[in-house]
Amino acid sequence: MRKVTTALLALAFVLAGCTDRKADSKSAHLKPEENAAPTANQAAPNSIELQQPADNNVAPARTPDVVFVPTPQEVVDKMLEIAQVKKDDLLYDLGCGDGRIVVTAAGRYGCRAVGYDIDPRRIKESLLNVKENNVGHLVRIEQKDIFTLDLSEASVITLYLLPRLNVRLIPQLEKLKPGSRIVSHDFNMKGVKPDKVVRVTSGDNEESHRIYFWTTPLKRTTEKPAPGEED
Ligand SMILES: C[S@@+](CC[C@H](N)C(=O)[O-])C[C@H]1O[C@@H](n2cnc3c(N)ncnc32)[C@H](O)[C@@H]1O
Repeated sequence: MRKVTTALLALAFVLAGCTDRKADSKSAHLKPEENAAPTANQAAPNSIELQQPADNNVAPARTPDVVFVPTPQEVVDKMLEIAQVKKDDLLYDLGCGDGRIVVTAAGRYGCRAVGYDIDPRRIKESLLNVKENNVGHLVRIEQKDIFTLDLSEASVITLYLLPRLNVRLIPQLEKLKPGSRIVSHDFNMKGVKPDKVVRVTSGDNEESHRIYFWTTPLKRTTEKPAPGEED
């Protein structure tokens, strides 16, 4: 049933010609096949030390690996709760979209957070979001390809990518410090056993979402995912 709903939502998304614009978070889901090309910091005790890049208004380094579909706010809230985000965490959102995860994490938990996205339009939206929510002393936004990042400083990683992109990130995720937490909206990471999978609904039509949670060191497995928890 969930797969049918997801497929219908994705179809509606494509028919509406929305592949390259901010999707309505109540009516769009990302699905694995949907990989077509869309095509200031103040000093503070808990602040990010590096400066915000001066000019983010540049062309994408390359085509994004997945289109922008925002995580509904209820799911963002649950992801951060499951990751047990604390003030002393450093959270990275890999493919930050409009910045909602990093803004929520900093605003609610007072932690530092960095949002990375390859698409300059998303960078602009994120910077605006950071500004409007007055979290610029905690949040940094950077236009970068997530597959080039050193993740070793982060203690929490959030993902809403695709199953194959999660798998591609494994070598980088393995460099996280022990006890780091990773949460992924809707998609698993084949070959790595999650500590738990939580179901959550969002919106008036109670759309179903899954949140996968892993801690480091990652638990490599050859087991198949449990029924209903496949890609
Ligand atoms: C499905 S959206 C998720 C947005 C946000 N994390 C959320 O959950 O609301 C995926 C984002 O990843 C970005 N992206 C795709 N490939 C990327 C790459 N190689 N490096 C950085 N960002 C990428 C897209 O531009 C898009 O904004």
